[in-house]
Amino acid sequence: MANLNRRQWLRTAGLGSAFSLLGGWQALVPSTAASLPLHKAGLPSDGPARLASNENPYGPSPKVREAILKCLDEACRYPFARTQPLLDKLAQKEGLTPEHIVLTAGSTEGLKTAGLTFGLHGAEIVSSNPTFHVLMEYAEQLGAYIHRVPVNEQLGHDLDAMERRITQQTRLVFVCNPDNPTGTLLPATRIRDFCASLSKRTVVFADEAYFDYVAEPGYPSMTELVKTGMNVIVSRTFSKVYGLAGIRIGYLIARPDLAARLRRHVMANLSMPAIYAALAALDDPEFYRFSLQKNAEAKAIIYQALDAHRLRYVRSHANFVFFHTGRPVQEFNNAMSAQGVLTGRPFPPLLEWCRVSTGTPNDMQHFARALAAVQAGK
Ligand SMILES: Cc1ncc(COP(=O)(O)O)c(C=O)c1O
Repeated sequence: MANLNRRQWLRTAGLGSAFSLLGGWQALVPSTAASLPLHKAGLPSDGPARLASNENPYGPSPKVREAILKCLDEACRYPFARTQPLLDKLAQKEGLTPEHIVLTAGSTEGLKTAGLTFGLHGAEIVSSNPTFHVLMEYAEQLGAYIHRVPVNEQLGHDLDAMERRITQQTRLVFVCNPDNPTGTLLPATRIRDFCASLSKRTVVFADEAYFDYVAEPGYPSMTELVKTGMNVIVSRTFSKVYGLAGIRIGYLIARPDLAARLRRHVMANLSMPAIYAALAALDDPEFYRFSLQKNAEAKAIIYQALDAHRLRYVRSHANFVFFHTGRPVQEFNNAMSAQGVLTGRPFPPLLEWCRVSTGTPNDMQHFARALAAVQAGK
């Protein structure tokens, strides 16, 4: 079943022609399972195992799906009337005021907004390398100069080297914690001290897209520093643990004057479904916990498969694992793709490392089988 795509499965089950008349997927599953995500309901997944983009295959949760459908009654209206309740809810969640929050279409828009706000007029930006480069690449197109500082031996940010690259022209320092693609997490006091001290000289941007996955008790978000009025911007997303990557919603957290500057550069504005989805997701702690649990289970399977083949990897604090392929990653990716498993793109200069995202148990079995085949054919 795992290897059948949706169309093949329907044909096998003799249901293909009647499918649309019956009302699609939801008509084919028992009513209790109908409200569950497809994978949770045990239905076959569609096509290859998609382990390339750090998505959460379980989302949106049933409660969020319901909210999105409900919002259609209001989809002929501009969403402005609905943004305040979301700002209020996020402010309450973060222990700040609505003036500290900038809503964006995915955190990608927040990253680009910061790139635009701080990347002009010969600005310099400091980041680690590799990391999630959206902000830097956007600013670069606007003429900014980017100092890309190689990761250290543990593949974490080299904070000392990053600090040394700060000049009079530095307008922003970017940290990604946990980092993508490496999955590393900076020691709590180190990141806090680094951000606090550098924010006296420039703006510090902390990308916390994967913060929800951090399991260390009491590990600090850099919103702590925003609360004390520092020059720090934090980005968050609904794309990961909430499983809403296709809905496009995220937000920035910053001191009100900084937030106002950023807000002026936001281009997309939110859609009504995104607002409804986010509000419902914040009221669904059960799905949040479910996502974290499933992610931990999937990561354990990835570690097991990598251990079985003696492939080195970084212990990950996110929803993916970065591992050493021992050969050009593009070649490795092509071989995995031929086995029906899509893995992350190359991350130069680490061209013998591959990033694989967590997925459903089916996806993980598929990954383990494909890895075995690829390693055997090496
Ligand atoms: C570190 C990091 N930040 C931000 C994003 C952007 O996510 P989104 O635009 O879906 O919020 C990603 C996506 O993978 C990411 O890995």
